[in-house]
Amino acid sequence: MKIVAINGSPRAKKGMTDQVLGRFLKGAEEGGAEIETIYLAKLEINPCIACLHCWFRTPGVCRHDDDMPGLMKSLGSADLLVFACPVYVDGMTGQMKTMFDRFLSYAEPFFVFEGGRSYHPRLREDDVPVVVISTCGFPERENFQAISLHFRRIFENMHAALLAEFLFPASSLIASDPDIVEPNLCAVERAGREVAETGAVPPETVEVANLDYVGDPAAFDEKMNEVFHALRRHHGAE
Ligand SMILES: Cc1cc2nc3c(=O)[nH]c(=O)nc-3n(C[C@H](O)[C@H](O)[C@H](O)COP(=O)(O)O)c2cc1C
Repeated sequence: MKIVAINGSPRAKKGMTDQVLGRFLKGAEEGGAEIETIYLAKLEINPCIACLHCWFRTPGVCRHDDDMPGLMKSLGSADLLVFACPVYVDGMTGQMKTMFDRFLSYAEPFFVFEGGRSYHPRLREDDVPVVVISTCGFPERENFQAISLHFRRIFENMHAALLAEFLFPASSLIASDPDIVEPNLCAVERAGREVAETGAVPPETVEVANLDYVGDPAAFDEKMNEVFHALRRHHGAE
């Protein structure tokens, strides 16, 4: 199995999202998968300008000359895709959204009515399996509502089959209190191994990975505020 992981954090390898992604890929590698990780922050991917050249003048070819064709080649070679992205303003990062916008060149313009709704024609015969990993700063799981729904809609359009979502709120705890988050990260690692070995993630593993580790969100907020004040003092801003 070849797994291609796309990390949409501007902080790339330094970010909390990569900590979670790293555990999934560690498990997958142990399970025998071949891994390719792509950091969008390190690529040049220009925003779609809706010129529609790629639909009507030069079908399938975008006017931008950047890293998108190479990225699409990698995505096309995958048996499983992992989209790892922090929550930014209740959604995905600009880097991740810019990439999805550029998928336009790879879709035909035509509309196909199938199963009660309209799509562009399929790019692949099979429903490519996908996994989502996300982290956010606030402690409540509700902060993943919009990004989760957005990913689900995109996957429907792509004819991709969502295998599992691993959502980590209060992401600073991953660095500040690793022991608290470790059982969840262990489950993410197990999920990686399981998917590589069997092509699926058991619901029990997903459940354990997403168990609450924050406890009292108001108490978490208070602790965070102490850290914020300390940082301001450190920088002479308070
Ligand atoms: C511009 C910006 C917007 C953010 N918006 C939200 C948000 O709406 N909700 C939230 O819970 N966290 C938000 N965060 C916090 C990040 O989701 C959180 O720190 C995440 O773990 C960062 O992942 P990374 O370290 O992999 O980049 C935001 C952070 C930034 C920089």
